[in-house]
Amino acid sequence: MTGPPPPYGLLAEVTHRCPLHCVYCSNPLALLGKQDELTTGDWVRVLGEAAALGVLQVHFSGGEPLVRGDLETLVAECRRLGLYTNLITSGLGLTERRAESLVAAGLNSAQLSIQGDAAEATDLIAASKRFDSKEAAARVVRDAGLPLNMNVVLHRLNLDRLDAIIDVCVKWGAERLELANAQYYGWALRNRALLMPSKAQLDEAVVVYERRKAELGERLELLWILPDYYETYPKPCMGGWARTALTVAPDGVVYPCPVAAEITTMEFPSVHDHDLAGIWAKSAAFQAFRGTDWMPDPCRSCPRKELDFGGCRCQAFALTGDAARTDPVCRHSPDHHLVLDALSRANQEEPGGQLVHRRPTVPVRER
Ligand code: SF4
Ligand code: FES
Repeated sequence: MTGPPPPYGLLAEVTHRCPLHCVYCSNPLALLGKQDELTTGDWVRVLGEAAALGVLQVHFSGGEPLVRGDLETLVAECRRLGLYTNLITSGLGLTERRAESLVAAGLNSAQLSIQGDAAEATDLIAASKRFDSKEAAARVVRDAGLPLNMNVVLHRLNLDRLDAIIDVCVKWGAERLELANAQYYGWALRNRALLMPSKAQLDEAVVVYERRKAELGERLELLWILPDYYETYPKPCMGGWARTALTVAPDGVVYPCPVAAEITTMEFPSVHDHDLAGIWAKSAAFQAFRGTDWMPDPCRSCPRKELDFGGCRCQAFALTGDAARTDPVCRHSPDHHLVLDALSRANQEEPGGQLVHRRPTVPVRER
């Protein structure tokens, strides 16, 4: 019997706890608390199941994964299992000692996020003034002998600072910088009116990106993650549903992507009840949108269906309430007007209102 090809990567969301409150956080609106989190023993078992399933890379994420004191144990377990490890961090809490102990445990790489080029941006977006902690974390990563990868989410409030943001990353010694135009789910969708850039802003930012990319060459690899609302066709989200990766949330619920907890019409399996191999191959949630058989028209009869897999299921749900619909970003989608309306507002009006910062103010989901 043949099952689906194994996943390549596991996103281990070890916690939702975080010292920052980013307005575009990809965590669900209903944040989990410490009391909901898997134990060290649970994670060790899950990592073993991941390796047995064929996973090659583990990305430790959150929230802020450094808030877990057992991160070194989990990294060491990955090393024992032959898994490549990457730490996705805000940098807050990454002291010299912590970095050394993580590297000693076998950590292979780290990705440090910034909100902009100065403390004001961190304060506006993340409700924290700790920009200096990020600079210190960049130094600590390099001193620990790890390559410094950085990430910044781009949007209406920082796109005009792109040159200065790139300068900061050059100064801090980054080797790779992901320029991730905001994707609108969860907290970002809630703040969409204030975060959506105008077309003119984007066009200018693309000019800056191309100029700096040519100028920096191999010194700093720049990666431009497309602003999908402005695209003609959707992104092949996650390389297709349940195709190359899976996410284990802090409470052990397993998702095909980091945002799928927001699809409230679906039930997702838990590592408390099933092993990862069974979840990957047999669970209804993972099979629901795998491949192309599930597709409605226009995707079903579209020549691009193997290229973009009908776009993003989470975006389809967030905008239409039905995860099985064509991603409204697609120009062929019957719901494309939802995207065009948002763009029209972003290009005609100066948005009012206030940013809503990510906070655990809503009750946690029951398992
Ligand atoms: Fe992709 Fe579906 Fe649009 Fe075709 S119709 S481009 S498969 S989202
Ligand atoms: Fe979940 Fe795109 S973010 S499928």
